[in-house]
Amino acid sequence: MKSIKEREWFFSQEKIPFKCTNPDPHYDVYKLKTTGQIISDVVIDSGLGLKEPFVIGLCADLHFNLCNNADREDEELSYTEKCRYWPEKLKWFAPTVKALEACDFCDATIILGDVLDYMTSGAADIVKAEILKKYPDVMMVLGGHDYTKQMQTKIKDKLPLEERLEFLKSFWPNDIHYDARPLGEKIVAILIDNSQSKYLPCQVEKLEADIKRAREEGKILLIFQHEPIITNNPEQTCVKAVIANSGAIDSVAMGTNQTIVGGTERTDEATGKVYNLITKNADVVKGIFAGHWHSQFFAETEASFERDGEIIKTTIPQYVISGNPYYPSGIVNRVTVK
Ligand SMILES: [Fe+2]
Repeated sequence: MKSIKEREWFFSQEKIPFKCTNPDPHYDVYKLKTTGQIISDVVIDSGLGLKEPFVIGLCADLHFNLCNNADREDEELSYTEKCRYWPEKLKWFAPTVKALEACDFCDATIILGDVLDYMTSGAADIVKAEILKKYPDVMMVLGGHDYTKQMQTKIKDKLPLEERLEFLKSFWPNDIHYDARPLGEKIVAILIDNSQSKYLPCQVEKLEADIKRAREEGKILLIFQHEPIITNNPEQTCVKAVIANSGAIDSVAMGTNQTIVGGTERTDEATGKVYNLITKNADVVKGIFAGHWHSQFFAETEASFERDGEIIKTTIPQYVISGNPYYPSGIVNRVTVK
């Protein structure tokens, strides 16, 4: 943990205006003049009037891409190495080092999935050495890339998912499917796996209990996951997502696309239950953070909570953040919870 003086120095560096490829007034984006990182500032109102703000450093979609000689012995991985063309032109290592250096000046660091580009021991070794050994308190959620050995091969993974997950469990710093971690005294981080565009049965009771406990103890929950959820806001039909430096532009219908997590087309029982727990307890759930789209955009989620038998309608802010490799000095979303 850096000292207060070091932290003050780091974030008081001269700020150079920086135009993100997808500017959004919900993110205050600038470049630090001396150390070079792009910082994207987000403020969350906990509603608790915290005496000391809590600061979270967030990164997403690191896509560590390294096949070593042992990996090449594996037929699936050696074929993926030949087929996989992204992020060929992007350097993923230096941006990660820079981003994590900046995160170290925050109170906590959370990585929002796709830490690996595809599941190699070469990439896992770099995660262990460069992230988990240097920053043992880092938390990570699972993304779809983390557990696939087939990438752009047009072949399905041969090993069952559970076997692939066992490999990740051997070094992942927290429970891969669900974890609740305190952030200071009044905030709880919910690290939840929705990397298959759905939630899981094992998450329902845990989240229900954590919401109940937070309400009783006067705490708030922040949700950290790989994929964003549908907002169900009919006004917000589309959010334009621009994939930085690649020229790709996509419109993400966060309000209405029923294939997004929580939308009706792909909602099974567990997904529906978790989605409802998140969106119907907005007195406790105060923010959602996701990656997956490799682009920064804000998508306010329709939500509600119950008070004295009455349903109060409100919204939960949902922040989707950029992929890290697009920025040579890394991009960190600095979330200040007040
Ligand atoms: Fe990704």
